[in-house]
Amino acid sequence: MCGIVGYVGRRQAGPVLLNCLGKLEYRGYDSCGIAVSSGDLVVYKDAIRVKALAETLPRSIEGKAGIGHTRWATHGEPSQVNAHPHCDCTGRIAVVHNGVISNFQKLREQLSGEGHHFVSETDTEVIPHLIEKYYAGDLAKAVELALGEVEGSYAIAVLMSGESRLVVARKDSPLIIGIGDRENFIASDVPAILDYTSQVLYLEDGDIGVVTPGGVEVSQHGKVVRRERHTISWTVEDAQKGGYEHFMLKEIHEQPKVIRDTIGGYVSAAEPPAHLATMGDISLEEILILACGTSYHAALIGKYLMEELFKVAVRAELASEFSYSGRASSVSRAIVITQSGETADALKAIRKLKGEGCQVIVITNVVGSTASRLADQTVYTRAGPEISVAATKSFIAQLMALYWLALPYAKIDIRRLDGLVMELRQLPGKVQRVLDSEATISEYARQLARCEDVFFIGRGINFPVALEGALKLKEISYIHAEGYAAGELKHGPFALLGRETPVVAIVAQDNTYEAMLTSIKEVKARHSPVLALAEEGDEVVGEVADSVITLPRVDALFSPVLNAVALQLLAYYTARERGCPIDFPRNLAKSVTVE
Ligand code: M6R
Repeated sequence: MCGIVGYVGRRQAGPVLLNCLGKLEYRGYDSCGIAVSSGDLVVYKDAIRVKALAETLPRSIEGKAGIGHTRWATHGEPSQVNAHPHCDCTGRIAVVHNGVISNFQKLREQLSGEGHHFVSETDTEVIPHLIEKYYAGDLAKAVELALGEVEGSYAIAVLMSGESRLVVARKDSPLIIGIGDRENFIASDVPAILDYTSQVLYLEDGDIGVVTPGGVEVSQHGKVVRRERHTISWTVEDAQKGGYEHFMLKEIHEQPKVIRDTIGGYVSAAEPPAHLATMGDISLEEILILACGTSYHAALIGKYLMEELFKVAVRAELASEFSYSGRASSVSRAIVITQSGETADALKAIRKLKGEGCQVIVITNVVGSTASRLADQTVYTRAGPEISVAATKSFIAQLMALYWLALPYAKIDIRRLDGLVMELRQLPGKVQRVLDSEATISEYARQLARCEDVFFIGRGINFPVALEGALKLKEISYIHAEGYAAGELKHGPFALLGRETPVVAIVAQDNTYEAMLTSIKEVKARHSPVLALAEEGDEVVGEVADSVITLPRVDALFSPVLNAVALQLLAYYTARERGCPIDFPRNLAKSVTVE
């Protein structure tokens, strides 16, 4: 999705902007550009990568204030003319924008009638023209008046020729200001500015900020407001590959630490009796969990987990569908899971829930994200920045947060609870053992890489893991993959099975075990090769499946963690074998900030 950066200070802005834009590449983009104020405004942009843009720039662009953008096309194809920054008629005002201006057609017609000339197909271009229209010597005032006409969502940064300040504003799209020493930064995302500062302000909806080298002034409806300064705990190293070939592989390998960090807040290091920090009084009468994509798969695992532990019905729904339901959510408390905290569908769901008077607990990885600020309570996962588009460590951290939410309220025998807590403590070590079997998994991946279609099957709490395994494989290797509840294969997909269509079967030691063995036999009878994931010591699976990835023994409630890690490695090595651009898969964005 689109990314914004901005700089004003003591350095030359061009190299800073390019460096910051490079750090936003992981969000996914198709074009990029910068504008620098060097007396006049100079704008360089195209439908190319940031590195290529850097190569086309003149050696030195003088100017210590500038803005930059990575664009993920929504209105108009990726092209030089549609790339940001966009300018007004005079070429004195440049704007970068994230979000969608919903009334841009009407504004464009109106402005065209007033003599403004448009060159792009974008919704964004109306903004510099509106600012031009209202400019009477005070840029911040002109921005405020312009935004008064705009409907939709935006995070914008505005630069004017000859000025050593930036004007920024946000509504329903994230924007942060990085505070430096006689220099300040703007970004849509923390990793962009980590090279320069760890001090940030989060803008609120409706804020307009004026950013100069020496300070930041934020106002709402013309009144100056104070925004608290936060220190970011993520380090530059967290956002670098650290010797791994891809961010995804690094992030997969970070998972033992991520588990330790995320559960560290609630599982005491002491031996039993187990001490669990709780979230206070959570009504367990009715539970609704909403999320999208991989986070939705975590939500589904949460559903199975809570139903098992609480013995009550739990609903897990797609946030992207939730808004279209005719009925009210009819819950008093809901959990929304979003790694980025900026997914448009998740935010829309939170707003709908809150509109119904529902209390919302958000599970997110990003401190200060929009979701966390809308939430009544936030559970932060401690995964650190996740750069690869494919979610891995953030997913495992979400599962840890769900265990946290669930375990203290479990209607189970205290000895069973102690046993589960003990297992939680041992999880990092067991995940490490899965990682240690990387070489074996990569051998299976080599075979999978030759296939065109793959099915993943699981039952019970591992059915969502089958969905996640399929999603991981398809998004990074471009192999068609489908996740199915094992019992559903015979209700249609059997027609697709055959020697060329392998099935990955997740076999857990729970009440689904026998049925999974039956499913494998049914698949084998249709000649599909079966790769099973099974616990060590299980001799039976090896007799029915063609090959087996053996995983450490674990309580079945935690088996999704080990199975998911194994499937992440399987997807990674399959994509690598096929030479895919693993960290930045085609057409995908890290945080999906449009509906
Ligand atoms: O930031 P979110 O957790 O709200 O993102 C939701 C999905 O876009 C995301 O989980 C996506 O499915 C993954 N990046 C896929 O690996």
